[in-house]
Amino acid sequence: MSHPSDQPTPAPTAADAAPGPRLASAPDRELRARRTAELFQDAWGYAPDGVWSAPGRVNLIGEHVDYQDGLCLPMALEHRTYVAAARTPTDRVRLRSAQAEGVVELSAKDLEPGTVAGWPAYVAGVLWALRGHLSGGEPWGLDLVVDGQVPLGAGLSSSAALECAVAAALEDLFTLGTEPVERIRAAIRAENDFVGAATGGLDQSAAVLGRRGHALLLDCRDFSVEPVPWDLAAQGLALLITDTRAEHSLVGGEYAERRRQSEQAAEALGVGTLRDVDPAGLPGALEAIADETVRRRARHIITEIERVRRVGALLEAGSVRGQLDQIAALMDASHDSLRDDYEVTVPALDSAVDAARAAGAHGARMTGGGFGGSTIALVEHDRAEAVAEEIARAAETRGLPAPHFFLALPGDGAGRDL
Ligand code: GLA
Repeated sequence: MSHPSDQPTPAPTAADAAPGPRLASAPDRELRARRTAELFQDAWGYAPDGVWSAPGRVNLIGEHVDYQDGLCLPMALEHRTYVAAARTPTDRVRLRSAQAEGVVELSAKDLEPGTVAGWPAYVAGVLWALRGHLSGGEPWGLDLVVDGQVPLGAGLSSSAALECAVAAALEDLFTLGTEPVERIRAAIRAENDFVGAATGGLDQSAAVLGRRGHALLLDCRDFSVEPVPWDLAAQGLALLITDTRAEHSLVGGEYAERRRQSEQAAEALGVGTLRDVDPAGLPGALEAIADETVRRRARHIITEIERVRRVGALLEAGSVRGQLDQIAALMDASHDSLRDDYEVTVPALDSAVDAARAAGAHGARMTGGGFGGSTIALVEHDRAEAVAEEIARAAETRGLPAPHFFLALPGDGAGRDL
């Protein structure tokens, strides 16, 4: 089976709009889908029934609020995870990945949390979560090949992309009759209950519901979205993503701890979730929280939800260009709150954000869960390369890993490619 690095250079895409030595482009979707079908043919000796894919995401604002029923503003990326699949008349599931060696074989009847480890757990978790939708007790007989083109470990939701591509494939192959929100909930259950990562629903919602040219105003109470235009190129702007390549250390434990602290805060305030707290009543309301750390965690979540509300209202009212200063100030405030109150940034994230701001970005912040991963910066299109240069220089000066860069254009959610 070929390794991704053996594969031909992808054809140029719209993400090449400002090519330069520092800015990588997104892999071309049709080419990658055909390539995944070929990998399937090589792996199993016959053609797949189809190829499905789902995107990674960046969150423009609204961080660490999804598990408190908050509002977020993600957009799907052009980087996607592809799944070539075929039904088989068995109760076995056979998996291969373009990014890993070997074949994984699972018994569809015996899928239980804790029984599968590593990347196959994300696939198995979705099979497990959707099993109730199979009609007449028919088994999951399946062959699959996965090709993940969302950068791994970059905080861009490669795992949700995999879960949601598998859910899209199962929906079509087994005619499950699920609604998009049921597939979002199944992917969340796969991650929470099968894999054992206590994440919220931001990533899965973006992966399923992404819309080209749009960001999604996402309400995590019910995972409903309102697409808002996010057409930066037409306004001479760009969103620069910096994958800091800083190691995610202690991610699982720290993330779960933040989530627990947010639950303690809601309990102390006597609300179901922190979404129910009126930001107009701060800081007085926070006095009911005795623990100083928990109080700061609550302040981040309550103010962050309000910042998303404001950015959403701005985007509904006019262009990004027309309201740059206000949007930039809200993005900056989000990062500062995540650094000071929520304490999920690390030196590589702060360095990339500070350097972007110093190089003239209109707002910069970390995106995703933090403790490593990526930052975003809203920049003039013709300055993207220069801002990237400054971020790279700052990382080098501080002895941090050399970052990777690309421009993010909003792509589509999960769907069938071939
Ligand atoms: C990770 C989680 C999401 C969300 C973000 C922070 O990406 O998977 O559910 O909590 O962190 O906004």
